[in-house]
Amino acid sequence: MSAPNRDMSFAAVTARKNEIMKASLGIDFMDFIQSPIAFDYERMMRETGYSLEDIARIQAETKVGNTPLFELKNLTEAVRSFAGPGKGATILVKDEAANASGSFKARRASISVYEARRKNYQGVAAATSGNYGAAVASQAAMRGLKCIILQEVFDSRGICQPEIVEKSRACEAYGAEVQRLSVGPELFYQLLMTLETTGFFNASLYTPFGIKGVETLGVEVAEQVRQRFGKDPDAVVITHAGGGNLTGTARGLLAAGCDQTRIVACSVDLGGLHMAADTDFNRKSFTTGHTGFGVPFATWPDRVDVPRNAARSLRYMDEYQLVTQGEVFYVTELLSKREGLERGPAGNISLTAAVTLARQMDRDQIVVVQETEYTGAGKHQNRQLSFARENGIEVRVGDPRENVPGKTIVIPERLEQVRGRVQDMDKLRRSYLKNAVKAYPLDQWNEGDYRFLAADLKQDVAWVQQAVSTIEMN
Ligand SMILES: Cc1ncc(COP(=O)(O)O)c(C=O)c1O
Repeated sequence: MSAPNRDMSFAAVTARKNEIMKASLGIDFMDFIQSPIAFDYERMMRETGYSLEDIARIQAETKVGNTPLFELKNLTEAVRSFAGPGKGATILVKDEAANASGSFKARRASISVYEARRKNYQGVAAATSGNYGAAVASQAAMRGLKCIILQEVFDSRGICQPEIVEKSRACEAYGAEVQRLSVGPELFYQLLMTLETTGFFNASLYTPFGIKGVETLGVEVAEQVRQRFGKDPDAVVITHAGGGNLTGTARGLLAAGCDQTRIVACSVDLGGLHMAADTDFNRKSFTTGHTGFGVPFATWPDRVDVPRNAARSLRYMDEYQLVTQGEVFYVTELLSKREGLERGPAGNISLTAAVTLARQMDRDQIVVVQETEYTGAGKHQNRQLSFARENGIEVRVGDPRENVPGKTIVIPERLEQVRGRVQDMDKLRRSYLKNAVKAYPLDQWNEGDYRFLAADLKQDVAWVQQAVSTIEMN
């Protein structure tokens, strides 16, 4: 508990953030930090003290993991019907909706909540408007801990995105207290105040505990594909926002020895919309897995509520596909109508990219969509499309290339029209380097900084040196 007469003004509380983080996590990030850029990432991950076996055992105690891997035979056949000769890889999907609380986020929450219990915290708190809130609440319920979830819910008109309303409902159903805020900078202040006044554990999305929890997903994909097909997956497609889904899954695949598997990120293209802007907050139909999070987090992962982010997607990413909102709505409906699986929006983002990939890949290859999420209520595409119309967005059928985020949602007429679009990876890497230069002047970088950046960008030191020499700051 905080001392009764502590200064609780915005400035005073945010100035105490290091102290609050240390008390609420039990991790001293200063142990790992080597410079304003570099830190010992692998040691930070190791020193959580949890092995993959420990994590699988802890997750099994609270209804997490060992989810089924389904072959989407009808969808694969549909893709083969228009793919070129010899093309049309088999599409598999890992049904993560089977986890307690209905998404892979349960893997992430399970280790944080276990750690909070082990260290005798009375409760857990997290700032998230996503599935993660329900995951923390559900895990806390099973481990007998209190739970507070802070969400950004309203725009200045008091209007809420239906998917976020659904997620509030789910958190409360699992017994959590939900603090609903409007869009703006007060979320972090509110989180710090909550952590300080309650003494609860910070179940942040971005700690090493959370990311280690996702590694079992990658290991399971490797084992299930090998068992069924006698080989490793050729590509795994991963819906990308803050980067934890991709980082944890890729680390798990690598731990299982899948070093040739192509790691493909995928986000919904919301180019032109500003996530933090009150006016754009309700002009999107997807509350996660979109470029409004995916690009800034890939190009500067440390923009989070802990000093260093354990989710570092460019360390593992080979390719980044973008899809449109209309394409994902179309594929969502197809998944229900052809495969008998009604699932929520996030996993269907990577499923949409998998259609494009399968079309380009050989018939004997395997592409895995590594998650689904539960659906219902505000997550459902029909509710999302009516909300879009209520907010002045035109919804029509046509060529998805005519889609304009925040203005038009164009739903394809045929699966063949689902084409996705690849992002320029080098542009993303250069953008990361530009952010690094802004954070720490180039003339102060040492060899360790270059080595760290090379690892964080999945390149070598020579590539980083060459790239920074051509960066123009504006
Ligand atoms: C079901 C689901 N899939 C994917 C994502 C994206 O994960 P990440 O933010 O770790 O990139 C989220 C995050 O909100 C999610 O809830």
